[in-house]
Amino acid sequence: MADFVAAIDHGTTSTRCMVFGHDGREVGRAQTEHRQIMPAPGRVEHDAAEIWANTQQVVSDALRTCGLGADDLAAVGLANQRETTVVWDARTGEPLSNAIVWQDTRTDHIAAALDRDGRGDVIRHRAGLPPATYFAGGKLQWLLEHVEGLREAAEAGRALAGTTDSWLLWNLTGGPDGGRHVTDVTNASRTMLMDLETLDWDDELLGFFDVPRAVLPRIRPSSSADAYGATRADGPFGGEVVIGGVLGDQQAAMVGQVCLAAGEAKNTYGTGNFLLLNTGEELTRSRNGLLTTVCYQFGDAKPVYALEGSIAVTGSAVQWLRDQLGVIRGAEDSEVLARQVTDAAGCYFVPAFSGLFAPYWRSDARGAIVGLSRFHTSAHIARATLEAICYQSCDVVAAMEKDSGVHLEVLKVDGGVTANDLCMQIQADTLGVDVSRPVVAETTALGAAYAAGLAVGFWASPDELRENWHEDRRWSPTIDDEQRRAGHVGWRKAVERTLDWVD
Ligand code: G3P
Repeated sequence: MADFVAAIDHGTTSTRCMVFGHDGREVGRAQTEHRQIMPAPGRVEHDAAEIWANTQQVVSDALRTCGLGADDLAAVGLANQRETTVVWDARTGEPLSNAIVWQDTRTDHIAAALDRDGRGDVIRHRAGLPPATYFAGGKLQWLLEHVEGLREAAEAGRALAGTTDSWLLWNLTGGPDGGRHVTDVTNASRTMLMDLETLDWDDELLGFFDVPRAVLPRIRPSSSADAYGATRADGPFGGEVVIGGVLGDQQAAMVGQVCLAAGEAKNTYGTGNFLLLNTGEELTRSRNGLLTTVCYQFGDAKPVYALEGSIAVTGSAVQWLRDQLGVIRGAEDSEVLARQVTDAAGCYFVPAFSGLFAPYWRSDARGAIVGLSRFHTSAHIARATLEAICYQSCDVVAAMEKDSGVHLEVLKVDGGVTANDLCMQIQADTLGVDVSRPVVAETTALGAAYAAGLAVGFWASPDELRENWHEDRRWSPTIDDEQRRAGHVGWRKAVERTLDWVD
């Protein structure tokens, strides 16, 4: 058996490839960003051809950094930004349009219509999702309606569609020369088209969005030695390596954090924040604005489900300070700037750029900075931005505790923003529980590697993975209940101000 497992982690802003040893430690990596195409307010697109080109580049660069080749790899795993929807020509492999990104709100009229005639409740029950612009089904409907010739090509099998995992898997396994058109069950659970119980596309749901089954990939388990095939010999790995694991990136982070027992949870701080709670083999339906989603399915075992609180804008609010306001030069400067003040002095920033996701699900919300006086500086805005990341997470934790009855003793965290010590301290303070970050912060790539390695016996069992998890740093609350309560009251008033903003 080879000594390493590789993982491709294709996220919203960048794609990376990482190589891990049996102890879960990283031995090599490469990463590159792709363009964020924003042609109009509310629209966010990616170039799928650029994403495939970047994937090939980071794979060969990562292998070069550690001097390894296909023969050294026991398996490859893939984690991906979820919901972002790609359509492509099955014969040429060319994308037929830019991909519509999960943050894009152009389908708000599609989502709103679903709730006017009762279809929304069917989707809530069967797919576990509230009708929203976030999910892939409405994006695919929009593409089928607006890309010339796509519907006919889709019905005739000349066009293919999928989330970015499908796009990359098809290319990795051969593209127009026999590439496999497949997706994993966690990605499929983000479409509003899959029945959470049968784990198959549902004809009634397909009908709601007028999506022909022929255009969709086959749904496969998240970890399997034979569901995805192998990388093509003349592809970026330079040889055939079994693709053993595929997961949406947030579910991959659950596996990387070894949240493999019911009641275990993690919060990932990336472009957005995604807090998932493993609920075991039972479907738990939310009454408090959370999603029910597939956490993972290993081989032929029953699927494991999760409750999820998805927050659209957290790390991307820091990017907004950098790119749109120009008050910081790099994301790390947000901490330096925010540390110039001890609090936000009554200022709150609600970054509802894509409406508000969990637990509100209000596509009519738009961002606001409230409570300003002439006293306030960019330092207060930076501090309010970090606080917004944390308050949004508190709202999701509160919903999760109501839904599950599970009271969090400690919050496991990961993702880029967890490098911001001030933000993590604010999280512990606003939440009132300890916050714990693992040594291997790249839990998404690690989780994809774990799923792949489990499939081929590189790791014998999930229990073996627990031994690889080690705490790096822990933050404990430093404020009292009264201070915490006052902060939350102001936050809730600020959220109210953002609602009903667009018709
Ligand atoms: O659902 C969207 C999520 O998968 C995006 O994650 O890490 O790419 O921002 P990330």
